Amino acid sequence: MSQLLIEQLEPAGFSDFLLYLNDHLSDNGQGDNVYFQAQPRADSRYPADKADAFRTGLQTPLDTPGWRRLWLARAADGRIAGHIDLRAHPERYAAHRCLLGIGVDRGFRQQGLGSRLIDHAAQWARASAQLAWIDLQVLSVNTPAIRLYQSKGFVQTGEIPDLFRIDGHSFAYTGMSKRLDTQT
Ligand SMILES: CC(C)(COP(=O)(O)OP(=O)(O)OC[C@H]1O[C@@H](n2cnc3c(N)ncnc32)[C@H](O)[C@@H]1OP(=O)(O)O)[C@@H](O)C(=O)NCCC(=O)NCCS
Repeated sequence: MSQLLIEQLEPAGFSDFLLYLNDHLSDNGQGDNVYFQAQPRADSRYPADKADAFRTGLQTPLDTPGWRRLWLARAADGRIAGHIDLRAHPERYAAHRCLLGIGVDRGFRQQGLGSRLIDHAAQWARASAQLAWIDLQVLSVNTPAIRLYQSKGFVQTGEIPDLFRIDGHSFAYTGMSKRLDTQT
């Protein structure tokens, strides 16, 4: 696992990342996989309008709303093994916070990569971007992700019951946050 290199993605590599991401999202709610994305099983692709905002955000300065930064873990053959991204908080006057997204390819799970990706992004958020908090939202059924976040110091801030109704199921949404600017 330590041979996987984690590097920030430059905007030129975004199309390759989207291919990986859509393959990753195709696992959503399939087989043994929990629902990890609030989208129907049959339509688990990254929406085109969101992809445009993602691509633009990679080139948006950190002091400007809409910024986003993305890191990829790559195997020795160049294959993408996992990703993590941080993005601007959508609320005004919340520029000291960001939101996190993460995924590890099905062939690389439960080997510590998710943990490494969070360490990497949190170090950047604290030291380079000087942010104070990382926030995230996760479907409450997504036990693997919630356990990972808890192990990395995220604490639950709330839960909205029955936020989504997808494929005939009701899903609650859990909010979690990790403080960066103090030792806890
Ligand atoms: C959630 C996810 C990113 C975890 O990545 P990972 O590389 O497998 O995680 P790690 O190997 O670093 O695991 C770290 C800790 O997370 C927890 N964890 C990870 N996978 C787990 C699982 N399947 N069941 C229970 N706990 C799990 C454990 O506490 C683990 O610590 P341990 O190995 O000491 O037991 C990965 O399962 C994934 O990509 N899932 C689909 C996408 C997703 O859910 N994204 C988040 C949306 S909010």
